[in-house]
Amino acid sequence: MRRSMVVANWKMYVSRASARVLLREIVDAVSEPPSCEVGVCAPYVYIPDCAEIVQGTCVLLGAQNLSDHKDGPYTGEISAAMLSEFGCRLVLVGHAERRYLYGENNLSVAARYLKAIEYGIAPILCVGETLEQREQGRTFQAIAEQLDTVISIAGIDSFTRAVVGYEPVWAIGSGQTASAEQAQEVHAFIRSQIASHSPRIAESLRILYGGSVKPKSAPELFAMPDIDGGLIGVAALNKQSFLEICNAVKV
Ligand code: PGA
Repeated sequence: MRRSMVVANWKMYVSRASARVLLREIVDAVSEPPSCEVGVCAPYVYIPDCAEIVQGTCVLLGAQNLSDHKDGPYTGEISAAMLSEFGCRLVLVGHAERRYLYGENNLSVAARYLKAIEYGIAPILCVGETLEQREQGRTFQAIAEQLDTVISIAGIDSFTRAVVGYEPVWAIGSGQTASAEQAQEVHAFIRSQIASHSPRIAESLRILYGGSVKPKSAPELFAMPDIDGGLIGVAALNKQSFLEICNAVKV
């Protein structure tokens, strides 16, 4: 049985003060042992503050991106080693906003994923189709390409230490959640792609759904057999709605 997981992606929405308050509220509310793993992906500059707040708790600290290089002349970049120095246990890799607004592609995403694995940080590999790809019936093809590049560069065994996030691009921040059936269909496809390399790894891999998840839509999504939790943007900015979503997971 896979352990459910709910991860907040704060994006660029929080101030230093609001991040501290929100994280303290989450830490206080998440009991030990929690029914699911709870993580928070903070903006880089707040990671030291957040590391202090999560210390000794079961809330996992994460970043929203990392460099595809180990170290060197890469002005403005943050490496896996740096994140690991601050106790980051998770990192988003290939979020749709990175792919479509900042030009990250399957190869550079795979390089980031590999860096996270090498430094013992669990990558949350984000995959998902655009509206155009869905309308043209190319959803599975787009997702297979996103997965295959990572599998060929990092190897299938790396997925024992990774999480996959399915985030349809058209559902992110749009208020339009994929239906539970639409999401389940793609989650099952992702698991089958991994199973074609290793049924054992596919069975234990957690696949999170992200894209306008709200307390109202979470129970139905999380009840699906291949949806193991969620990646939450806007609804994670409010303590109550985030905790309600955490409580909606299968136990
Ligand atoms: P959203 O964001 O919940 O605001 O759609 C999800 C994400 O981008 O991870």
